[in-house]
Amino acid sequence: MPKISGKTILVTGGAGFIGSNMVELLISKASKVIVYDNLSSGSFDLIKQFSTSTKFRFVKADLLDVPRLKKIMIEEEPDAIIHFAANPDIQLGTKNTGLDLEQGPIATHNLLEAARLSNVKSILYSSSSAVYGKADIKPTPENYGPMKPISLYAASKLACEGLITAYSNLYGINYYIYRFANVVGKNQTHGVIVDFIKKLNKNKRYLEVLGDGKQKKSYIDVIDCVAAIIYAYEKAKPNEILNLATRGQTSVDSIAAQVISKIAPKAKIHYTGTEQGWPGDVSNTYIDNKKMQSVGIKLKYGYSDDVVKHAIKILTNKY
Ligand SMILES: NC(=O)c1ccc[n+]([C@@H]2O[C@H](COP(=O)([O-])OP(=O)(O)OC[C@H]3O[C@@H](n4cnc5c(N)ncnc54)[C@H](O)[C@@H]3O)[C@@H](O)[C@H]2O)c1
Repeated sequence: MPKISGKTILVTGGAGFIGSNMVELLISKASKVIVYDNLSSGSFDLIKQFSTSTKFRFVKADLLDVPRLKKIMIEEEPDAIIHFAANPDIQLGTKNTGLDLEQGPIATHNLLEAARLSNVKSILYSSSSAVYGKADIKPTPENYGPMKPISLYAASKLACEGLITAYSNLYGINYYIYRFANVVGKNQTHGVIVDFIKKLNKNKRYLEVLGDGKQKKSYIDVIDCVAAIIYAYEKAKPNEILNLATRGQTSVDSIAAQVISKIAPKAKIHYTGTEQGWPGDVSNTYIDNKKMQSVGIKLKYGYSDDVVKHAIKILTNKY
């Protein structure tokens, strides 16, 4: 089994929410960490604390810039790539219908091609529980099918999974595909908790909730998520797909109530009314974490409600 120590790791999207937490974990373990990020939704501020380390290199570049990508890959010869870069915004992808195709399968193909030509051994991919669509088995296991994504974001994630498994079969690159639940916690810049905090800080009397508040989702703490990614790389057999999630689900109403009680106890909720928060939203996700447990991954926060409570606590202090 590979060990992170002594390895050169390239992190695409390493200046983003999850990627920056991954960089923090890797900087103490790997021999070199290269962040490849175009800063479209990430921020250098999230990783600038590592810039004095001799192990760290930041490359501001786009995955769509193929010559640059190949040049960096040839220069650095990474042992493994952790691929986070993507469009994180489902609603934006619905408005701009080419975005998830470009930032998903096309960017990922560029990365796989550069990896193939520079003999990278492993790719660790951040997929999403969104790939299951409106699954009729809950909790939803990794072998659920047929998968019918309901957003362009989810379709893009599923297409990337397919490209990765095909490259693995044809060119011998090992993969680990992780289907994350909703990730929350340190450095979080987007998502329902941040959205509610920002709205209430602007107007303490009123909170608009997209949907009917009954949407329920699986969650995972970001520090647990990045630790699980590395644990599986080091300890589990490659070429596997793993759900990463806590037990249970947390409703949007519960999140709204907690954020309101912390920031604006007199705020009234206005629901936009529909079952879905927005077109493409999977309003009820509950992903199965038995396989994750069977490979030995243990989470600090094992239950969805605990993860959310912790995230609300740290994020209300930040925003
Ligand atoms: N946050 C979640 O709850 C969640 C859940 C499931 C899956 N994911 C996946 O995890 C990954 C990371 O998500 P996040 O929440 O940290 O998002 P994020 O927006 O904070 O991070 C994405 C990073 O990728 C960079 N990037 C985007 N397009 C790029 C390109 N073409 N070239 C180079 N860099 C590019 C951005 O600047 C940003 O730093 C994404 O693939 C996302 O789909 C996230």
